[in-house]
Parts: sequence; structure tokens; C-alpha cells
Amino acid sequence: MAAKKEIGVGLLGMGTVGRGVYRILNDNKAGIEQKAGAPIVIKKILVRDISKDRGLAISTGLLTTNINDLLEHPEIDIIVEALGGINPALEYSLEALARGKSVVTANKDMIALHGKELFAAAEANKRDLFFEASVAGGIPIIRPLKECLAANRITQVIGIINGTTNYMLTRMTGEGLGFEQALREAQAMGYAEADPSADVEGYDAARKLAILASIAFNTRVSLDQVHVEGVTRITAEDIAYAANLNYVIKLLGIARDGADGIEVRVHPALLPKTHPLASVNDVFNAIFVTGDAVGDVMFYGRGAGELPTASAVTADVMNAARNLTHGCTGMIGCTCFAEKPVKSMGLTSTEYYIRLGVADKPGVLASIAYIFGKNDVSLASVIQHTTGKAAELILITHEVLEKNLQEALKGIKELPVVNEVSNMIRVEGH
Ligand code: NAP
Ligand code: HSE
Repeated sequence: MAAKKEIGVGLLGMGTVGRGVYRILNDNKAGIEQKAGAPIVIKKILVRDISKDRGLAISTGLLTTNINDLLEHPEIDIIVEALGGINPALEYSLEALARGKSVVTANKDMIALHGKELFAAAEANKRDLFFEASVAGGIPIIRPLKECLAANRITQVIGIINGTTNYMLTRMTGEGLGFEQALREAQAMGYAEADPSADVEGYDAARKLAILASIAFNTRVSLDQVHVEGVTRITAEDIAYAANLNYVIKLLGIARDGADGIEVRVHPALLPKTHPLASVNDVFNAIFVTGDAVGDVMFYGRGAGELPTASAVTADVMNAARNLTHGCTGMIGCTCFAEKPVKSMGLTSTEYYIRLGVADKPGVLASIAYIFGKNDVSLASVIQHTTGKAAELILITHEVLEKNLQEALKGIKELPVVNEVSNMIRVEGH
């Protein structure tokens, strides 16, 4: 293909991410043109409501509510999908690829659920499908995993991969904010998903972990294979007890490739305050990758927000632009060539923090310890807080099998001296 004078972009969506892409392409225009080898110009922007105030001076005629104005536009070479959700994002992305346009997306829902179909369409049409911003916002992680670390056998990927919940937990821990107020702040900053339950219930992180594990371990990990627990049951009491024990609570994504299968789980965890991930606060994300050749590599940066996310999206646009200019496609496509079984959650093992509401009378601790012992759960520490006639027990176990812990908790719930199992949170990072 002869060198193109100009690369045209069709932007789907002008929310947090779309606005950031618009800003960066305009503010850094000259440098972007130098690096991409051609000017990159937004030709049309799809929105739902043209009259909405977007806090930006957008040239008249750019906004439309008709997707065909973008798909049929002869000067649009790249579609940037920043709508969110599955449809119409998927339908529009597939149609764009079928029409010979490259696609850049920040949409983890779509990649986690329909990546295979999208990669096949990109390959069949010899166009790029880039999705760097779909995991950990502004942090480069997809391209490093697919390219820079490609020579390794990756054994684990562990990280904080949701900005909203990390921001919330930081505010709840540092400022004592309530859950709802912390969430409202994260929404106001543009970090949360349109439906924030995806963030707080852990599904956003699970989609990202499915994408990371699929790339890292060269196997297709589907969303339903990821064990998911969110932060909704984390209370001020748990945060305070954790702090007293020298831990912080973080929502972690953990993926490991072992001899007996892979393990993929998203859940809150107590981390020692000295652990490198413990000091990853606010909207920051961090991901540890371990490869057999490189050893440990850590990626750190802003995991959500307008400009950090748009930084990753715009770089993808520049890569796609360069490839169009040179008549080629870029990054290695689908690399899920292996079929690895996913370990059931019961077969994973870790340490546990357990908070129990119990009667404050003789023999309680002995009856609880008996049930733990019967299920091969060994205790590392026990702290009792008395509150009138009742007491609260904070227990930390040694590393045990999840199925043993769950069996023990079933038995403990049935003890007449136990009022409630208030919480169980895994302890990681030792
Ligand atoms: P957002 O603020 O809700 O913006 C969505 C935009 O898409 C809005 O401009 C909306 O138009 C438009 N839109 C939605 N459905 C449409 C439809 N059917 N037809 C036409 N326009 C439609 O979302 P966002 O935060 O930018 O997120 C976009 C994507 O990026 C999501 O996949 C998200 O997961 C991902 N992402 C977000 C972040 C972040 O920090 N926010 C970070 C990484 C990845 P109107 O404005 O007219 O309503
Ligand atoms: N809602 C997501 C988060 C956006 O908070 O991490 C970035 O993917």
C-alpha cells in the first residue's frame, strides 16, 4: 500500500475514554503525526445524544447518532470503540473489520467474551484489533505480555486490576469513608463502569484476569472459569482489624499456571503492609508477572480515568495507523493454542482471616478449634474482642486447602455458641 497522507478515525463514544482520545489526538497532534508517520484525524464521532454538553469544543458536524456515518465513511480507516458493553459494540466492531477498518477498543467485556470471534474477523480481513486499554487502563500490559515477554513460559500474573475498588478501599482505609460515598467519588472521577456493580462485585477485574491469563498461559480462559468475589462484604471492622494485624485489604486478581492446572481467581485479600502491592493506592493498578526466563516483572500506573486510558487507546491507534501506512498488521493475534484445565477453587490453598461473632463463655474457643482441627485447618493466631455478653474472634489460619476451610466453616456455623461467621477473607503475599 502506498504511504497514506492522512489516517481517518471514527470514534464510537464520547464519554470518559472517547473524550480523552479526542483531547490527546488534538493536544499532541504534531508529535503523534511524527511518530505515526501520518496525521491522524477524527472524522466522525458516534454518540447517543448530540446535544449533551461534553465540556469540549467539538467541531460542528463531527457528532452523529448514525453508525453508518462512520462505517460507510470512505476516509475512516480505524474505528475506536469506546461505547462499553457487548452490543452494539461487538456488532459495530465486527462490521468495521468486515469493511476493512482496523479496530481499537478499551472494552474488556467484549474482548473477554468475544475475543476469539473478533481476532478471527481481524485476521480474515487483514486488519488490526488492538485492546491495550481493556486491562489496567494506562498501564502497558497486553503488548508486553504478547510481545516483550513472549519468549517466556509465564507462571503467574498477580495484581490490582480494578481502579474503582482500589480507589474505594484506599479512601475507606485512609479516610474512614463509607462504601457508598467512596463509590460515588470513584464514579465522579470517571473510574467506574456505567454499571458500577461490575467493579464492586469483581466482574470487571474477572474479565481483565480472563484476558491476562489467556494471553499469559496461551489457553482460553473464559469468564465463567474465574472465581469472582467483590468488595461489597468488606466492612470498616475488617479494615480496622486488618490494620491492627499489619495488613491492608486489596481486591486481587490471581492467575497461576501449575502442573495440576491453572488457577484464576478475583477476591479481596489481606496483604502484609510490607508487600509491594500494599502500597498501590487510589486509582493505581499494579501487575506482577513471573516468567521462567525474565523472573519477576512489575507494571504500575493509573488503571482508569480519562487521560491514562486514552493514552493506551491512542497509542494503539498510532500502531494501527503505522501498519495501515505500511500495508501490514501488527501484534501477534490469538495465541490460545494450548488447552489447560482450570483448577477448582476447592483445590487452591492459601491462608485465611476469619471473623466470628460468638458467645463469651468458657469452652467456645475449644469447640471452634476442634472443628478446625477435624478439617485439617491449622490456626496461626486468635484474637478475642469482648463486646458485652458476646465476643468477636479474629482468626488467621496457616496455609490450608480451600475445601477444608469451607468444610470447617460449615461446621462452625452450626455450633450453638457461634452467632455468625461475619467474614472470611483470604490472606495472600507471604
Ligand atoms: P462512558 O463514559 O459511559 O461513555 C460511553 C460513551 O458511549 C458515551 O459517549 C455514550 O454516548 C456512548 N454510547 C454508549 N452506547 C451508545 C450507543 N448505543 N450508541 C451511541 N453511543 C453510545 O464510558 P467510558 O468510561 O468512556 O468507557 C468506555 C469503555 O472503555 C468501556 O468499555 C469501559 O469498560 C472501557 N474503559 C473505561 C475506563 C475508564 O476509566 N472509564 C478505563 C478503561 C477502559 P452519550 O454520551 O451520548 O450518552
Ligand atoms: N472501571 C474500570 C476500573 C475502568 O475501575 O478499573 C478501567 O478498566
